[in-house]
Amino acid sequence: MEEIVQFRLMTVEDIDQIYKIEISSFTIPWSKEAFFNEMTTNQYAKYVVMELGDTIIGYCGLWIIFDEGHITNIAVLPEYRGRKLGDALLKQVIEFSRSQGIKTLSLEVRLSNEVAQNLYRKYGFKAGGIRKNYYVDNHEDALVMWVNIDE
Ligand SMILES: CC(C)(COP(=O)(O)OP(=O)(O)OC[C@H]1O[C@@H](n2cnc3c(N)ncnc32)[C@H](O)[C@@H]1OP(=O)(O)O)[C@@H](O)C(=O)NCCC(=O)NCCS
Repeated sequence: MEEIVQFRLMTVEDIDQIYKIEISSFTIPWSKEAFFNEMTTNQYAKYVVMELGDTIIGYCGLWIIFDEGHITNIAVLPEYRGRKLGDALLKQVIEFSRSQGIKTLSLEVRLSNEVAQNLYRKYGFKAGGIRKNYYVDNHEDALVMWVNIDE
């Protein structure tokens, strides 16, 4: 399906919609307050939202520290998954990161999350190590992945 999505930076007005995506996507969801703090007090945080009409259908967070970017979370509303939209969102975030002078991107992903790992590998992310017992709900390990986007 061909879909025209638009991208822009997240604002505090988006938090209610973002929270719906968050609770439908993660077993340890961030609170609305956490997003509010990201928007208002974290000078390193930039969040990209993906919209279809008036509906936010995905978002991706980034912490920018000098020329390094760390992806905090990426999610697409469940009913919109599998339509290349997560792909479009990550591509957009990589382009945005380049425009900010970022040279490397990193992230953590559950070892069991094959879907997300496939997406990251598609954009050149490589396994960089394991963080043991990273997730507090089931003590699952995190795979650290990174990519050089300065090419
Ligand atoms: C991860 C996520 C953002 C991917 O978004 P999506 O819109 O479903 O993915 P897309 O349709 O754009 O697919 C992009 C790539 O992801 C991988 N992928 C997507 N669905 C997949 C599936 N069911 N099985 C295996 N790989 C899959 C493939 O590499 C795919 O590329 P391809 O179609 O060329 O093979 C989405 O599944 C999501 O929100 N998951 C819950 C939150 C989450 O786990 N976030 C990551 C935290 S680290």
